[in-house]
Formats: sequence, C-alpha cells, structure tokens
Amino acid sequence: MSFEVTESTVVLAIETSCDETAASIVMGGNDVLSSIVSSQIDIHARFGGVVPEVASRAHLESIVPVIDAAIAEAGILPSRIDAVAATAGPGLIGALLVGVSAAKSLALVWDKPFIGVNHLEAHLYAGLLDDPTLEFPLVVLLVSGGHTMIIHMKGHGDYTVLGRTIDDAAGEAYDKVARYLDLGYPGGPVIDRIASEGNPHAVEFPRAMMHDGLDVSFSGLKTSVINHVRKNPEMSNVDIAASFQAAVVDVLCAKTIKAAQQVGAQGIVLGGGVSANSFLRSEMSRRGGEAGFKVALPSRAMCTDNAAMIAAAAWHRLKSDGPRELDCGAYPNLKLAEVPR
Ligand code: KG4
Ligand code: ZN
Repeated sequence: MSFEVTESTVVLAIETSCDETAASIVMGGNDVLSSIVSSQIDIHARFGGVVPEVASRAHLESIVPVIDAAIAEAGILPSRIDAVAATAGPGLIGALLVGVSAAKSLALVWDKPFIGVNHLEAHLYAGLLDDPTLEFPLVVLLVSGGHTMIIHMKGHGDYTVLGRTIDDAAGEAYDKVARYLDLGYPGGPVIDRIASEGNPHAVEFPRAMMHDGLDVSFSGLKTSVINHVRKNPEMSNVDIAASFQAAVVDVLCAKTIKAAQQVGAQGIVLGGGVSANSFLRSEMSRRGGEAGFKVALPSRAMCTDNAAMIAAAAWHRLKSDGPRELDCGAYPNLKLAEVPR
C-alpha cells in the first residue's frame, strides 16, 4: 500500500503492552491532540505485581472506552484519522494482542493503513516528542520495569545498544527493594517519595561495575540492601531508600555520561518509567550539564507507558518503511532494533 506521510498525517495509536491501556491521537509525529492512559495499578497492587491474565482482561474492558475518549478529546471525526498503530512488542502476549487486534479491526473497518510499533523504540520517541529541537546523535538512557539500556541514537531508526543491565532492570530493582521493605507496588514512586526525606549517605551501598564498560548490574545492590536491613532492623526505611536510590542513580548517571562522551553525543535523553524519578532527573541534569551535554527530561507522563509515544514512533516508521500488512503479529520478546512485521 503506498502511503504519503506529511506534517498533517494523523495517527491513532494504542498501547497495551503491560498494565496501562492507552490511546492517543498525534498529528505530524509530534502534535499530541489527545493522550488517554487508564492505569491498572490498583487492580494489580493487591498481587504485588502485574498478573498477565488479569492485565489482558482489564485491557479488554477498557480498550473501547479509552479509544473513544482519545477521539473525543482530540475533537476530530474518525474519518480524519489516516493510520492506526498499536504496540506489537515487547510485552505480555495476551495484553499485546488486545491492542493489536483492536488497531487492526479499526484499520480494516476504516480502510486505513495499520502499523505495529516497537515499544522500546517508542520510549526513545517520548523524549523527542517533548523537545523537538533535539539533534542527533543522542544517547538515550532507557530505564523501565523490564529494560535498562544505554542507547546511541544516530538518527531515526538507527540505534546501537552501548550498555545494558546484565541482571535486573532498574525499575525491577526499585520494585524488589520496595517489596522487601513492605512499601507496596509499584515500588519506584514510593521509594522516590520517601527517599527525599532520607540521608543518601546513611549506607554506602556498592556501585557494581562502575569502572567496567557501559553495562550495569543491580542484583548485587538489591542483595546488599536486603542483607543490611536484616543486620540493622532498627534502621529507618527512608535512609535505606535514599541510600539505595543514590547508588542506582550514581551508576546510571556515570555510565550514561561516559557513553555520551564516547560517541560525541549532542545530548542525553531519558526515557522509561524510572526516568520519572526525581533524583535521577536532578542528578542527570546537574552532572550531564557539568559535562557539557544538553539533558532532555521528558514530562513524567511521557516517561511512563503512554500511546502518544507509540503514535510518534509510528509516524516516523510510516515515513521510512510504509504501513504493515494486517498479518503483522504480536511479539513478546521483540528487541530494540527489530521492526515488527
Ligand atoms: O516504562 P514503564 O511505565 O513500564 C515498563 O515498560 O516497564 O516503567 C515502570 C517502572 C516500574 O518498575 C516502576 O517502579 C518504575 O518504572 N517507576 C519509577 C518511578 N515511577 C515509575 N522508578 C523510580 N522512580 C519513579 N518515580
Ligand atoms: Zn514501557
């Protein structure tokens, strides 16, 4: 299908890869006309984490009202939509299928092109959406519940992963430490909040692999926190949280800045749920700025899962590669450089 992509091309995008049902309408790849996110956090909180079966059912219940709300908020008629996109991976297979099926159905009924989007690529576009003045090459720190990657973004669709976690993702470490301290789920926002009242130097937790290339590791830090709490049960959670967070943020800042220096980046961009973290944001701005880099911090709404970033990535992929066939599937283990087909 030949398809012309312009500044007035309107994309409806759907995101259902994990525990947020989201829909958004974006024009020209960066003009967000609407962005609706329905979170399932309250539903999963009592289980202490996302339950895949429960997530799929909740997506099924929310998907139609969320799409309706996105169209209503954008104030357009469905006939104005030029293409329909959905996250095709990575993520939970049952959850992904709800969004992909909804998007394909709408594309078929409206006779518009469909495009499956890589969720990781979309997280990179969240930063660009909020700051269109950013120039390549960029180094993007992508830190979420499932991924921790330092990425060299040379241009649209042109990525090299410079470093990644060799064990737990940063968000996973936050969630596991919070669960151990009985702080609830998801752990990142709680630790972020209570850490601001604690002493980040109360315990000097280990900074793993600090001088070892660009990969990171958080599993030893998590064990070290658990051992420390066992041996010092009287110590306050706020000091533990602040000290744990100081170690995570120290490593992420040091490695990201080192990567930016190595590739001669024009700027540093944060992406993914953990980039909503207050301390990571302030430290990366300060340390990145001191090292001479422009540091782009997407708004908190753009850091966590949303469909506006899916629409932005879809617009760029439509421009470079064109639409996909309707037999494009859902791919739970999709890698950053892989294009869903
Ligand atoms: O990107 P995201 O919404 O979903 C995934 O694709 O994984 O990221 C969710 C992760 C969770 O681990 C959550 O604890 C973490 O992001 N997170 C935070 C904060 N807000 C969310 N971590 C630290 N500080 C925060 N403020
Ligand atoms: Zn995500």
